Amino acid sequence: AKGKQSNLRTPIVVVMGHVDHGKTTLLDKIRGTAVAKGEAGLITQHIGATEVPLDVVQDFCGSHFGKEIEIPGLLFIDTPGHHAFTSMRSRGGSLADLAVLIVDVNEGFQPQTIESLSILKRFKTPFVVAANKMDRIGGWHTTTNAPFAKSLKVQSERVSEILDTRLYELVGELYKYGFDADRYDRITDFTRTVGIVPISAITGEGVPDLLMILVGLAQRFLKDNLQLTATGPGVGTILEVKEEKGLGTTLDVILYNGEFFAGDTVIVGTSREPLVTKIRALLKPKPLAEIRSEERFLPVKHVSAASGVKVSAPKLDNALAGSTIRVVSNPDEVEALSLELKSELDAVRIDTENEGLIIKSDTIGSLEALVGELKARDIHIHYADVGPISRRDVIRAAAINDPLLSAILGFNVDILPDALNEIQKTNVPVFSSDIIYTIIESYERWVEDQKN
Ligand code: GTP
Ligand code: MG
Repeated sequence: AKGKQSNLRTPIVVVMGHVDHGKTTLLDKIRGTAVAKGEAGLITQHIGATEVPLDVVQDFCGSHFGKEIEIPGLLFIDTPGHHAFTSMRSRGGSLADLAVLIVDVNEGFQPQTIESLSILKRFKTPFVVAANKMDRIGGWHTTTNAPFAKSLKVQSERVSEILDTRLYELVGELYKYGFDADRYDRITDFTRTVGIVPISAITGEGVPDLLMILVGLAQRFLKDNLQLTATGPGVGTILEVKEEKGLGTTLDVILYNGEFFAGDTVIVGTSREPLVTKIRALLKPKPLAEIRSEERFLPVKHVSAASGVKVSAPKLDNALAGSTIRVVSNPDEVEALSLELKSELDAVRIDTENEGLIIKSDTIGSLEALVGELKARDIHIHYADVGPISRRDVIRAAAINDPLLSAILGFNVDILPDALNEIQKTNVPVFSSDIIYTIIESYERWVEDQKN
């Protein structure tokens, strides 16, 4: 569904947060409620995303938006595990127009909460915090899918107090990371204060409030970004490079501007020279298929932004997750577009003569996030690139004179076999994980141990 009078494209909302804090359950809730109301056909499944039209949002909220709301709906992106970073990268900033940072209200801030927050901060992405699982507070009375105010009314004083205390703890955590925050119904200006919406993704309580706020924020955001449209040459971010039975290597793409047609010539980012190829097929999940399901794609001739789509094309083996795919409308553009795509990675890569660590990461986005965290701590970097840990990386690390910097940090990357041999020979320590915080923490702990 497109906007009524305008060409405003669907805003992209990324759902981020720590493992198990309820990202997928929240999206299931929104989808499930629409299904229960007989609106299943209105919910469009995308690759890695779910589109919720404005009508469904209005129904969930039980109220009608005014004429000022022109957006066609919301496109939600779920971010399992390390994909958080990959999907957040593009346009030299964030792919997401908005974000929902989910925090389990009973557990509070956890490593991936902090990581998500620092990404949102770096990209200046507007976001709201969903304080999830409030139904887990002992003695909670459920009012299914109720707005927060209605749900709060039936709680005992003790339950309300516990909830308030937990919310205050979140306010305190957010303050620590430089954000003013408050319960959403106590603030007026969402551009200056981060709203915290208490929800339960299971019972649906507070979810109407969350959706209302997102629609309001999205409307404002898109008004400021009118260059983002649903027509013109398509530009997307590669979420994942995936092997598919019978299709070979495919790309899961979020198309954030313009449109793709089957047969379009596209340029795709790799870790070296961008590649030029032709879209063989555009694939969508079949209706009602599960998000990220591996099977049963439906070929379509055309998709427009914002949209999640699987792209099948020849020569995609070297495509790089987190980089860009862009339609080439005219062969004369190839050279300029190629430079532009290369500069995306070059802007993040580091290769110096200086003393420092070796950093390897799986995508442009994760490399940028890891490098950003290290720079914020004044930790020097000698070399940073996308790709597995190679023998050359180990040799370079071993050649660093400062013993505290003679080390390799890896985010979600493999260690190549000949690199393993070299590691045994040189004793260069390797700190690797798929949580940035863990990598840095274990490196810093090692540094402390070396000093003693
Ligand atoms: P990853 O994708 O692994 O990062 O986790 P996630 O953030 O998608 O969490 P998920 O939605 O899978 O939820 C994790 C568990 O928490 C599941 O067992 C959910 O049923 C449960 N859960 C999520 N939200 C709520 C909630 O609001 N209330 C209660 N009681 N349980 C919840
Ligand atoms: Mg999940």
